[in-house]
Amino acid sequence: MTTELLIPFAPTEVNRWSIARVVVASEAEQPLLARLAAFGPAHYPAGAGRAIVTLADQREGLLDLLEREGSVEVVAHEDYDASWRLPAEPVSLAGGLEVVAAAPAVSPGAKRIVLHPGLAFGDCRHPTTRLCVEAIAERARERPLRSLLDVGSGSGVLALAAYRLGASRVVATDIDPYARFVTEENARRNGVALEVTHPIPEGARFDVVVASVWASAFPSLAPSLERALAGDGVLVVSGFPATESASIAALFPDLRCTPAVMEGWGALVARRQNT
Ligand SMILES: C[S@@+](CC[C@H](N)C(=O)[O-])C[C@H]1O[C@@H](n2cnc3c(N)ncnc32)[C@H](O)[C@@H]1O
Repeated sequence: MTTELLIPFAPTEVNRWSIARVVVASEAEQPLLARLAAFGPAHYPAGAGRAIVTLADQREGLLDLLEREGSVEVVAHEDYDASWRLPAEPVSLAGGLEVVAAAPAVSPGAKRIVLHPGLAFGDCRHPTTRLCVEAIAERARERPLRSLLDVGSGSGVLALAAYRLGASRVVATDIDPYARFVTEENARRNGVALEVTHPIPEGARFDVVVASVWASAFPSLAPSLERALAGDGVLVVSGFPATESASIAALFPDLRCTPAVMEGWGALVARRQNT
């Protein structure tokens, strides 16, 4: 049994990304991931002999390390991007949104999002993504969306959904530089002005803060999410199994959390106690 590791790595020039593809024996996967930890936390969906590794730090030396492990094939980002595109059929999301892999032109005001996730997470079909879009759409029904912060933007799908639902200022942030690159590309594809940044801007307050990140990220992230929330704002968090909802809610003792569940995945919509 072998495992294919796909690792987006540092651009050699601005806006040029590559994917290193390393095939290792399955038993070599964990030791290799442990060595990759020197480049930052690696997150990868388990199973099926394929893992995508995202690295927080793009320091030099990654390719040398990989080449010591076996044969490394380096593929242009664009080639993987093409092979990971969404199916031709539009995918419907809450709020009347529609996600497509390609569209001739997206008119301003249309509820259509053109999305190429590449190897970044967020092709719009995962329950955690859909739960977040539902919560953003619900807020947009209550009152016009103003500013929104998307923490853990991945492909940028939530930031783009917020924009299409009427948000006037959208800031997207992700710990993974490859995800920030993919978010920027998708913003460009949709003719949308997103601010893509890392870390979370200090001192800024947002009407909606959405964070769909790995469950393990919440303990350290929770205080900055709460700080970024405007007084009457809404915080939407997801990315964890529904069984972990109570422990994630406990990280926000000053907020009133309402849980939502889809196919075993959880989300919380949280507001300050007095709002
Ligand atoms: C599960 S994906 C979610 C992508 C997209 N928001 C969606 O809902 O489909 C989680 C993203 O969070 C990012 N992430 C993990 N920990 C983070 C942190 N502490 N700060 C910012 N981004 C983080 C990962 O790099 C990854 O792109």
